[in-house]
Amino acid sequence: MAELRGERRVSRIFAEYHVGDAVVRLRQRDNTLLYEVEEPALTEKVRKLLNQAMDEYVKRGVEPEKLAEKYSRRLEPSEALAFRYYLLRELKGFSKLHVFMCDDQIEDFTITMPGPVRLIHRLAPHYEWIESNIVVESDEELDRLVKLVVERSGGSITPANPVVEILTPSFDRVAGVLRGEVSLHSSITVRKFPRRPYSLARLVRLGTLNSEVAAILWLAVELKCNVIIAGLTGSGKTTLLNSLLLQLPRNYKIVTIEEHPEINLKDHPGWFPLYARLPTSPAARQTAIPLTQLLKAALRHRPTVIAVGEARAEEVQDMITAASVGHGTATTLHTDNLDHMLKRLTSHPMNLKPDQVALIDYAVFVVRMPDGRRRVKEIYENMSGSWELIYDYEGGKFKLPEKIGQKLATTHRGLEPYELAALEIRKRAEQLRAQARKEEVVATV
Ligand SMILES: Nc1ncnc2c1ncn2[C@@H]1O[C@H](COP(=O)(O)OP(=O)(O)OP(=O)(O)O)[C@@H](O)[C@H]1O
Ligand SMILES: [Mg+2]
Repeated sequence: MAELRGERRVSRIFAEYHVGDAVVRLRQRDNTLLYEVEEPALTEKVRKLLNQAMDEYVKRGVEPEKLAEKYSRRLEPSEALAFRYYLLRELKGFSKLHVFMCDDQIEDFTITMPGPVRLIHRLAPHYEWIESNIVVESDEELDRLVKLVVERSGGSITPANPVVEILTPSFDRVAGVLRGEVSLHSSITVRKFPRRPYSLARLVRLGTLNSEVAAILWLAVELKCNVIIAGLTGSGKTTLLNSLLLQLPRNYKIVTIEEHPEINLKDHPGWFPLYARLPTSPAARQTAIPLTQLLKAALRHRPTVIAVGEARAEEVQDMITAASVGHGTATTLHTDNLDHMLKRLTSHPMNLKPDQVALIDYAVFVVRMPDGRRRVKEIYENMSGSWELIYDYEGGKFKLPEKIGQKLATTHRGLEPYELAALEIRKRAEQLRAQARKEEVVATV
């Protein structure tokens, strides 16, 4: 029970865990959730020594680890722990934002003006942006934190270059803005990618798609069909694409082409990742390496499947060229229904012609549900330009994919294509269900 402004309100700790030496609690109170950080207690004595040590660091450049060791000798064990924690947090970590940068349970965190840091938590994504008890006090403090996070992640943000998007060495995406030129307040948003990619079986276990639908998509990518995974921001497109690529046979060569490294196939021996070089300033435009150039290069490496992290512009043309010469392709597209998808593909800057669109085999639509779960909502099969809905979650529709049957029939004899598809889908779905049973899933709030 907690007292709040004289009222009695029920507060329940829904989750509690360590992030380094800090403790994090998700406290549920009425209909809201608070992300509560408890860092080691800071006594006056420790504070004074910290100031001294930081001074020594600035003036004499002594290594933080060495300083921690030296000063700790003068302290009680609990004080020494706090000393070390704050010293490293300030000199090597991310200051007030350190816990947020280190907590893998966070999906995104943000600060857009002085006030509490807000975040989306993996255990409770349907609460959307929840508040934390870490508060940024002023615009000056926010400026300092934005610069610190960007610089310690290997980038730079200045009034001349006030909008920055970079990746931290642990592959989190940092988007920072420095106030003055383009906005009233400095701001930062960090997207944290799961450290271990989701397997297809895990997505089945999470209810994102059932095992038969998973088997269809798995087969489609393995049989070198051309697949588009579509949905809105954060709907789980890249996650689904990643899980499908991870299912591919070990003798496949998978070239992934991205602007930002999100796809992670470290467990696949045939993975060959390529990353575009984006212009960091107007002057650097000439040294940029766009996705189109990488796609052309990828073709010379004899890939089995080419995946483009997110198709946005003319690279779609190169992808279709790859599809036309027999490579499998897969990509994600930011759009939420078939009509919009076709309009985007056929208008500027993608500009696909009808005969090029005809080369796309499957369009998969994913959505983020109000409760935060992700779901495969619809799958369309493209039969020479006519798009047939073969799976519809809401309408309960499920039809065997014809193209998969036809592709299987080229290597198997004696059975009709639809029988082959049914058999293969059943076999793989069973396999996925067995794997999914072993997946550990943390219940959400
Ligand atoms: N099927 C899923 N079940 C639960 N959580 C998921 C699922 N898919 C994705 N997520 C969570 O959502 C986050 C965003 O997912 P992802 O990056 O795949 O979305 P996206 O649609 O590609 O977004 P964007 O449009 O920004 O590229 C992931 O970091 C992960 O935490
Ligand atoms: Mg994505």
